[in-house]
Amino acid sequence: MNEGAPPFLELRGIVRNFSKKLDFAERIAARLGAPVAEQTVHAVDRVDLRVAKGEVLGLVGESGCGKSTLGRVVAGIMPPTAGQVLWHGKDTASMPAEEARATKLLVQMIFQDPYASLNPRMRVRDIIGEAPKVHGLVDGDLDSYVGQQMRRAGLDPTYMRRYPHQFSGGQRQRIGIARALAVHPEFIVCDEAVAALDVSIQAQVLNLFMQLRAELGLTYLFISHDLGVVEHLSDRVAIMYLGRVVEQAPTEEIFGHPNHPYTQALLSEVPRIESRRKRFHSVKGEIPSPLNPPPGCHFHPRCPRAMPVCREIQPALLEIAPGHISACHLNDPAMVAQAA
Ligand SMILES: Nc1ncnc2c1ncn2[C@@H]1O[C@H](COP(=O)(O)OP(=O)(O)OP(=O)(O)O)[C@@H](O)[C@H]1O
Ligand code: SF4
Ligand SMILES: [Mg+2]
Repeated sequence: MNEGAPPFLELRGIVRNFSKKLDFAERIAARLGAPVAEQTVHAVDRVDLRVAKGEVLGLVGESGCGKSTLGRVVAGIMPPTAGQVLWHGKDTASMPAEEARATKLLVQMIFQDPYASLNPRMRVRDIIGEAPKVHGLVDGDLDSYVGQQMRRAGLDPTYMRRYPHQFSGGQRQRIGIARALAVHPEFIVCDEAVAALDVSIQAQVLNLFMQLRAELGLTYLFISHDLGVVEHLSDRVAIMYLGRVVEQAPTEEIFGHPNHPYTQALLSEVPRIESRRKRFHSVKGEIPSPLNPPPGCHFHPRCPRAMPVCREIQPALLEIAPGHISACHLNDPAMVAQAA
């Protein structure tokens, strides 16, 4: 990152809430006069993040902690409830419409299930060619434009008149990648992008991501349950717990010296030798509901090192080593002394 230059992507205080609608039984109870009200899901809770150009930031955390929601906010698919998304220091919410539209195009998202995100009634040529055509990016022949995108994603352009169901899972994910590349993105949000694929195909698609990074200078937010993949691909890793980023560090640092008790629990549950295929759903205790997150440090009900202060005060993210930040009261000598 250039000294003094604004970061490529910066998130400031991103909050995203959802209102949980009443289910059938709750609606009846409300009609009968019971005090039932809609509740708020706190999916993302004041997240600050910075990503440098060309970097791969891995985002990990248990199911429901808000990774996809944060990815959608970054990709401009979902507006935040509060906070700012800044590209090169400019807030997307206050950009003129034309600039906001162009910026949105520079960020593309690739999803877990390539089949669900491809229209089954459209030919691959139109799936890949539609957006660049609409946005005036194709000068010349659409077939040759689409063919170029297909080749870059490792697909044979002679198949461009086929439908998605005529391709294998790995090839369908490549169609999704070609569609994303077709609008010349600078930033890709990969949300569990290889999770549905066989292991050998996963490796090929991951290689493609890294090859495209080198060729096109792409930057990635890489969301994954697979710690082996995250360790292999990412320059830095951010750990999320119940809507908050609780630790962030360069990859080697986070795997070598995890600081936050939650990160330590996640990593210790993964025998290193088998880390490639292990998912980490085995941290002890239930994940509390984002409808009613615990006060103080969200992790305190499950934390083996919790102190009384942890139930009351939210720990701040402190820099504990260069580029390594962690939100735990154990890093604050005053808090530890108070608990002793
Ligand atoms: N559209 C929505 N409406 C209501 N609640 C939602 C919506 N999208 C997400 N949520 C809730 O927000 C929380 C965070 O969800 P999110 O999908 O971001 O988690 P995640 O970390 O991506 O999980 P996973 O690893 O299972 O994909 C969850 O409690 C989820 O139920
Ligand atoms: S702040 Fe307290 S509860 Fe939270 S991780 Fe640190 S020690 Fe555990
Ligand atoms: Mg998700």
